[in-house]
Amino acid sequence: MTSSTDVSAVPADEPLDQAQITREIEEIAATARPGEAQPLLDYPPYRSSLLRHPTKALCPADPEAAELVAPVFGHSDVAPVEADLTIQGTGDPIGERMVVTGQVLDGEGRPVRGQLVEIWQANAAGRYMHKRDQHPAPLDPHFAGTGRCLTDDEGRYRFVTVKPGPYPWRNHHNAWRPAHIHFSLFGTDFTERLVTQMYFPGDPLFPLDPIYQSITDPRARDRLLATYDHGLSEHEWQLGYRWDIVLTGNTSTPMERADA
Ligand SMILES: [Fe+2]
Repeated sequence: MTSSTDVSAVPADEPLDQAQITREIEEIAATARPGEAQPLLDYPPYRSSLLRHPTKALCPADPEAAELVAPVFGHSDVAPVEADLTIQGTGDPIGERMVVTGQVLDGEGRPVRGQLVEIWQANAAGRYMHKRDQHPAPLDPHFAGTGRCLTDDEGRYRFVTVKPGPYPWRNHHNAWRPAHIHFSLFGTDFTERLVTQMYFPGDPLFPLDPIYQSITDPRARDRLLATYDHGLSEHEWQLGYRWDIVLTGNTSTPMERADA
């Protein structure tokens, strides 16, 4: 549903301001129906969701055919260093060093082992190292903003990174994304891949953000929030956040829709 950088262009003839977007968000929230699939497709405040909605019937994917051309990987292909985004340059990245960890679980609470978890994020200044992100915040030569790891026998993943900053995007005038980290869970092949975003508690941009608000069920939205965990913080080194990912069931983590 979202691009890697969320820098989707809004049509130039729609100079919308935040007040208009917020009004639309509130109107849709007032008519939201319990049990609706989350996030909503064709969510008008998120302008480019309209452009991305499919206009033709979906094609069923044959998992076996996909496996013939999909990349394969094993434990030896994912190095432990890839889970620490702070040591991939030649120096320390600028920002608030943090660890984020949690379990990947199925709907019965069972750990999902050996799962490829990938993340990507903006740097502490809110800038992606990506050609489509040209807004005037500094790049950090020591921070590429990508990492991956495999879940362990308890379904646990763990990344060390810096806390991403909020960044502007072009949905409307003065639009800012709340700080977030993109997560991908690969499954066993591309047809099972799930993508979502993790947010930080207490962000003042939540009520203003059409992507976050496209999940109209507040309980589902809350499942995208990491929890600050002082037990994970380390003395004079880093802060700790915990975020579990539930793949199925009534308390599953909202994922970007494959049909979006
Ligand atoms: Fe993003």
